[in-house]
Amino acid sequence: MSELFSSINIGSLHLKNRLVVSPMCQYSAKDGFANNWHLVHLGQFATGGAAAIIQEATAIVPEGRISYGDLGIWDDQHIEKLREITTFIKENDAVPGIQLAHAGRKASSNKPWLGRGQFAPTDPLGWQTVAPSALTFHSGDYVPQELKIDEIEDLIEQFGRAAKRAIQAGYQIIELHAAHGYLIHQFLSPLSNIRTDKFGGSFENRIRFLLEIIRRVKLEITTQSLWVRISATDWAPDGWDLDQSIALSRFLTEEGVEIIDVSSGGAVSHQKIDLGPAYQLPFARAIKEKTGSKTATVGLIKTAAQASDIIAQEQADLIMIARSFLDDPHLPLHFAKELSVDVPWPKQYERAK
Ligand SMILES: Cc1cc2nc3c(=O)[nH]c(=O)nc-3n(C[C@H](O)[C@H](O)[C@H](O)COP(=O)(O)O)c2cc1C
Repeated sequence: MSELFSSINIGSLHLKNRLVVSPMCQYSAKDGFANNWHLVHLGQFATGGAAAIIQEATAIVPEGRISYGDLGIWDDQHIEKLREITTFIKENDAVPGIQLAHAGRKASSNKPWLGRGQFAPTDPLGWQTVAPSALTFHSGDYVPQELKIDEIEDLIEQFGRAAKRAIQAGYQIIELHAAHGYLIHQFLSPLSNIRTDKFGGSFENRIRFLLEIIRRVKLEITTQSLWVRISATDWAPDGWDLDQSIALSRFLTEEGVEIIDVSSGGAVSHQKIDLGPAYQLPFARAIKEKTGSKTATVGLIKTAAQASDIIAQEQADLIMIARSFLDDPHLPLHFAKELSVDVPWPKQYERAK
């Protein structure tokens, strides 16, 4: 029996194996509403044997979308279709999760297949972006508006309301997107946060936005599991780094965050990333070792053997996979075959086993 297919309890959550679908924007929503694309896209991973599926970055307010095609959860009307998605996932023995997000200065952008460029605030497809400080990501981007204290407090409240809707829609994992240079990460990193009030400057001040969001979201949580995705490093001098991630993870775990989902990068355009197989694993391993927090690792994990070794050697608790799931939505069933583990297939598909 490969440890990759051993179950794990995370708080009151039971995952049947260690393979989790990493959140992936589909840029296919209208006004934030999910549709049949999202149902089939996310549903296929449940029939494919994933233990949990984290839905793409889902915006807590309209201006928090990366693009006009992002999913949103700022309105009660978004709940109905999302509930259809979570129902299907649960009916097929997987756990539905949602990533709550705000893109900050990286919002108001085009869909990747249309060129990604940022829209002017006056463009019908764009809007005025906001950020901790009036600094752009790319030199040619539109300058974001520096958030005022009352606006920051309102966003904390909106994260809470979004979590409430997510729970009403049936998600069992609430993941906060604090990575990849989006709004929460913009507060964490000294390269994007040059505020001089209680939300900027010292480490304690830069992590305040995230901690206050967690405290607000926790007011809504009953049995759901709270996860946070972080970028362990900015891959840039004087930026956010592993030491700060370790210190933050201690706070997160104390606050009741059950999984630290360890990614990296995205804060600044001059980052220099060392890419390679499982290149972000050393960060997850260090956070797990130094803090005792449960972690998920993600990034260029492509083979059954690689994933299995990571779990067997207790380098991380969960494996998150993105692109290989797009390539093969039934990846866990095929990994199990490769590792000679007998896992159940959907009855409808048993003749192909
Ligand atoms: C199409 C696509 C969309 C993505 N959208 C998100 C997202 O919404 N939230 C997020 O945290 N990461 C997002 N990512 C990053 C992935 O979750 C993952 O961290 C990254 O692709 C590395 O994993 P991989 O090598 O298994 O693809 C996206 C990646 C892809 C390919």
